[in-house]
Amino acid sequence: MPDAQSLSADALRRQEFPLRLLVWYRSVKRDLPWRKTRDPYAIWVSEMMLQQTQVATVIPYWNRWLERFPTISDLANAPLEDVLKQWQRLGYYARARNMHKAAQVIVSRHGGVFPTRFEDVLALPGIGKYTAGAVCSIAYDQNVPLVDANVIRVLCRIFGIYGDPKSLDVQQQLWKLAGELIPGGEAADFNQAMMELGALVCIKKPRCEACPIQSVCAAYATGNPESLPQFAPKAAFTEQIDVCAVISHLSDDSRILFIRRPEGGLWGGLWELPRITLVDNETPLQGAERAARDRAGLSVRILSETPVAKLRHGVTTRKIALLALSCIPVDDAPPTSENSTESDAFAWLSPEETDQYPLSSPQAKLMAQLREERTQLSLFE
Ligand code: ADE
Repeated sequence: MPDAQSLSADALRRQEFPLRLLVWYRSVKRDLPWRKTRDPYAIWVSEMMLQQTQVATVIPYWNRWLERFPTISDLANAPLEDVLKQWQRLGYYARARNMHKAAQVIVSRHGGVFPTRFEDVLALPGIGKYTAGAVCSIAYDQNVPLVDANVIRVLCRIFGIYGDPKSLDVQQQLWKLAGELIPGGEAADFNQAMMELGALVCIKKPRCEACPIQSVCAAYATGNPESLPQFAPKAAFTEQIDVCAVISHLSDDSRILFIRRPEGGLWGGLWELPRITLVDNETPLQGAERAARDRAGLSVRILSETPVAKLRHGVTTRKIALLALSCIPVDDAPPTSENSTESDAFAWLSPEETDQYPLSSPQAKLMAQLREERTQLSLFE
């Protein structure tokens, strides 16, 4: 092996980075429950949950999931509603739906045993290059790379990679480099170590003083490590107001009308209050009336212009204010979805009963507020 001085800066990084990274990882790695197993199913569940979600949030979900669905067959045989319920409030529900489908494919095509060939893993619903790389490297130590947001930061900075990491050209560079760097037989630790460095040290505002790679880092050498990676500016946010109708009959105001969204699309198959997005100049009161009419075919009278619950949330590039207004039907007509493509079933539920139904995260928060409101009211009755 050539000595350090005769190596180019790039070759030195390629030699030093994996070695120092592994030593660092083995001394500081977090004690996470999915790091105590090599079961590909359990690792797959953790990887799906960790996409877009913080480690601390994922831990209880992961434990509960494996208690409820200990094997792939348990997941495949469970009703979709139970699967969505276990996922409730993790968001991006397509992940849960795909896991359910993938479990059924594993049962039918692989006899219920998680496949070991990278191509077979990649062919499962909802599994892309990242997840297939994570499962095959972490569970089986196969020499396959992975690139996620943490790895992008680490590699762009250490190796001085310029350009938008989302561009095809930079993506190709990153995946190729990530694969070349894996020390043979060490893929499980190496891939997790890159993500760990990105999660703990090479964060948005990097903690270079704590970094084991600092002395060979290209971005550190520029004096401005934060300038990498060079993501293209994000699209501007649009703002919208969504209004929900909280519909209950005067004769039984403990029950509220819920509708189930059709399968497919955002929040497909989840239950929610009849909801619309306000259009130009429409008032919340008019919006609640329209929500009842367009989603449930009901004519309603609004009881108060003051929302009984409200919150703000975001979906991709939209900032959404969500308001809920109480109302009563003007007659005894049953709800109908004749003119709505956004409702396929109805249920009259008490706020407590909604625990048994999968709700989107904003709707679950709305219900929590409504329960609180009702508890407060009953204290004064
Ligand atoms: N983020 C997603 N999966 C991870 C893992 N296995 N280790 C560290 N960070 C992660």
